[in-house]
Amino acid sequence: MDDYALPFWVHLAVVTVLVGGAVKKVLASHLSAGPTLVAWLGATVLVERLWAFCLPALLLLVLLGLAYRLCWRSRTGPPTAILPAEGKAVLITGCDSGFGHAAAKRLDALGFEVFATVMDLTGDGARELQRTGSSRLTVLQVDITQPQQVQQALLDTKAKLGLRGLWGLVNNAGVCVNFGDAELSLMSNFRGCMEVNFFGTLCVTKCFLPLIRQAKGRIVTISSPAGDQPFPCLAAYGASKAALNLFTDTLRHELEPWGVHVSTVLPSSYKTGHSSNHTYWEQQHKQLLQSLSPALLDEYGEDYVTETKDLFQSFAKQANPDLSPVTGTIVHALLAPQPQARYYAGPGVGLMYFIHSYCPFSLSNRFLQKLFLKKKLVPRALRKQSGLEVGLDLDHLYNNNNNNNEEKLQQL
Ligand SMILES: *[C@@H]1O[C@H](CO)[C@@H](O)[C@H](O)[C@H]1NC(C)=O
Repeated sequence: MDDYALPFWVHLAVVTVLVGGAVKKVLASHLSAGPTLVAWLGATVLVERLWAFCLPALLLLVLLGLAYRLCWRSRTGPPTAILPAEGKAVLITGCDSGFGHAAAKRLDALGFEVFATVMDLTGDGARELQRTGSSRLTVLQVDITQPQQVQQALLDTKAKLGLRGLWGLVNNAGVCVNFGDAELSLMSNFRGCMEVNFFGTLCVTKCFLPLIRQAKGRIVTISSPAGDQPFPCLAAYGASKAALNLFTDTLRHELEPWGVHVSTVLPSSYKTGHSSNHTYWEQQHKQLLQSLSPALLDEYGEDYVTETKDLFQSFAKQANPDLSPVTGTIVHALLAPQPQARYYAGPGVGLMYFIHSYCPFSLSNRFLQKLFLKKKLVPRALRKQSGLEVGLDLDHLYNNNNNNNEEKLQQL
């Protein structure tokens, strides 16, 4: 045993991680295995050679590897689609704005027969689609949480399709009712997200599946990285998307014998109609402040809740306005002979998954915290404790004088 020096064990650990990573990649069906496997094995051999050379070279290699992965992801993107769009019918939900609206336009331009569902037939989004779309495009009013409306859309679609099946269903409609710490999130937030993102999508999918099976078509669902990773302040939205992810992943197994391909698209942060609606978020914020129990509001502090709202809004402002990476993946999922099970659409989302999949929790947690909402305030009750580690007397003092905490701290 004395022969085995520490460097050997470190070396062994590094090689194990690399080989393990390669094996994991091959096993994970959602990543194209070939090029990644070659890259990982190549890196393993290089590490073997360089180890004898020096440690900095190894670190350099790791950095180069990471940089390569990132470039490779963003440069190549999905390969070009091959199947013709002509004669294929697609239904997209949530086309008032955002991804749905952009996808409806793009698929229409490609020659698909598009059924675009909107919440509001008289809204700007719907009217624009009707004005600019081809004669193949049909706009239907559907609130996906209302089964009768979904049924009506099925009847309208069937009336146009005749005996033909439906090639594609793009489950795009979704909401983020509100955001914030789970304890501060109203039950109506959790239920609202579930109602639309999970039950609504479930209802549409079940309803249109017979037509999709008939065409041996495709189901493409727009989900979110928040359904896989614990983004701070997105518990309600994330939990509904997690349920959605599991549902679609299960569906993928079950529909394989029918020749139906099921894909999930996980976009990074984009500017969509809802996310940049300042009025909406202000309303939600006001309603939250009115609904929280005084005790809870006192413990967290109104400034804490307001900071979360402000951070979220500035995050939404910085989001990417160019939706084409997402519509591109939707096209690929609909027209590639072998669509991917998962699409990571947009800058940074590949890196996020890399860190989430291969790094320890401590690191990926910190990454999510730094990436998303960079909170400066801690809940008010904790400020009292950590500001000064004095006992009960001080607490008593503060509780009597909540508005002047900061001043009191300075005086003391
Ligand atoms: C923004 O939200 C408000 C309040 O919910 C709503 O009335 C309005 O229609 C929304 N605007 C857009 C452009 O979606």
